[in-house]
Amino acid sequence: MKAGQFFSGKDVRIKQVQKPIPKKDEALIKVSSAGICGTDMMIFFGKHPRAEAPLIMGHEFSGIIDSINGVSDFTVGDRVVIEPTISCGKCPACEAGQMHVCQELKLIGIDMDGGFAEYVTVPINRLHRVPKELSLSVAALAEPLAVAVHTVRRSSLKIGENVAILGAGPIGLLIGMIAKLNGANNIFISDISPYRLEKAKDLGLHPINAGEKDVVDGILSYTNGKLIDTVFEVAGTETTLEQTVKLIKTQGKIVVVSVFKNRPLIDLTSMHFNEISLTTTRCYSKDDFRTAIDIMAGGKVDISAVISHQLKIEEIEKGFSLMGEPDKSLKILIQP
Ligand SMILES: NC(=O)c1ccc[n+]([C@@H]2O[C@H](COP(=O)([O-])OP(=O)(O)OC[C@H]3O[C@@H](n4cnc5c(N)ncnc54)[C@H](O)[C@@H]3O)[C@@H](O)[C@H]2O)c1
Ligand SMILES: [Zn+2]
Ligand SMILES: [Zn+2]
Repeated sequence: MKAGQFFSGKDVRIKQVQKPIPKKDEALIKVSSAGICGTDMMIFFGKHPRAEAPLIMGHEFSGIIDSINGVSDFTVGDRVVIEPTISCGKCPACEAGQMHVCQELKLIGIDMDGGFAEYVTVPINRLHRVPKELSLSVAALAEPLAVAVHTVRRSSLKIGENVAILGAGPIGLLIGMIAKLNGANNIFISDISPYRLEKAKDLGLHPINAGEKDVVDGILSYTNGKLIDTVFEVAGTETTLEQTVKLIKTQGKIVVVSVFKNRPLIDLTSMHFNEISLTTTRCYSKDDFRTAIDIMAGGKVDISAVISHQLKIEEIEKGFSLMGEPDKSLKILIQP
């Protein structure tokens, strides 16, 4: 089969590889769509702590069951989307039912071969059914949308509150959509990319161009100086992290979604005087994943708006190169 394989040294290319055979309790999936994610870029640049070349990346994917090795409610031909997290089941987090923060958490497409291929094998218990009203290409966004669902659930967002999202990448935009669905009032979203800000505007979010004006001034001038109830940091920069503390109201909640590569500084003194809470967020629970699928199927939000490109697997190199141009791309889907 054809696979977009990653080799060390910023090298992703098409290779003919052996079609995998499902082991016991695994299903063979014929991949339909697989999203490229920032984490894939981290692997591409050799900065991921766990991923090892050669690897077929891709942890955001949908497809059709080709064969099943084990007893299951699923059958051959079912349309599915894959929840890529694999937890150990034994550590304290798993024992407490919090499998997504498993101490040994692994992801399909990072720790083992994933969806940038014609076929992939996955454990049966990682499959979710795709409702008939949902296309397989949109269903591939269940994973990043589940991140957004989990993030908003970990915030203290209440109806009518003002929200600021720093970073309008796919994750920031999806958080904006979910915050809106949760009844947020003004949703400000900053970025330095005019293309991404335009997309934010189309989605009914209030764009703030961080390249042109001071983000804190820009937002507070709109709210007449009223500080923000919940701030999401989704850009992963020192600048945006600093802005979270300047924007948040007394006793408000900052949610850091970004994965910081270096150890950033944060103004703890100011946070102390204002009793600010800061929370982090990792992946999603099975329930968040199901909720993401239900939200997409319900059609209340147009998730397809974050898809910028749909490329054939032969174009995977182009996909990775476009990911390096945030002013031209958002979510890129590879379609084997
Ligand atoms: N918590 C989790 O489980 C989880 C899951 C997925 C992604 N993430 C993290 O979330 C972050 C966002 O993911 P993404 O896929 O949307 O990435 P992305 O790189 O596409 O988005 C980041 C955005 O921040 C913008 N940006 C850069 N500097 C800025 C500034 N000074 N002000 C405002 N915006 C600025 C960029 O232009 C870009 O649009 C990443 O750090 C990623 O690792 C976390
Ligand atoms: Zn991802
Ligand atoms: Zn565990």
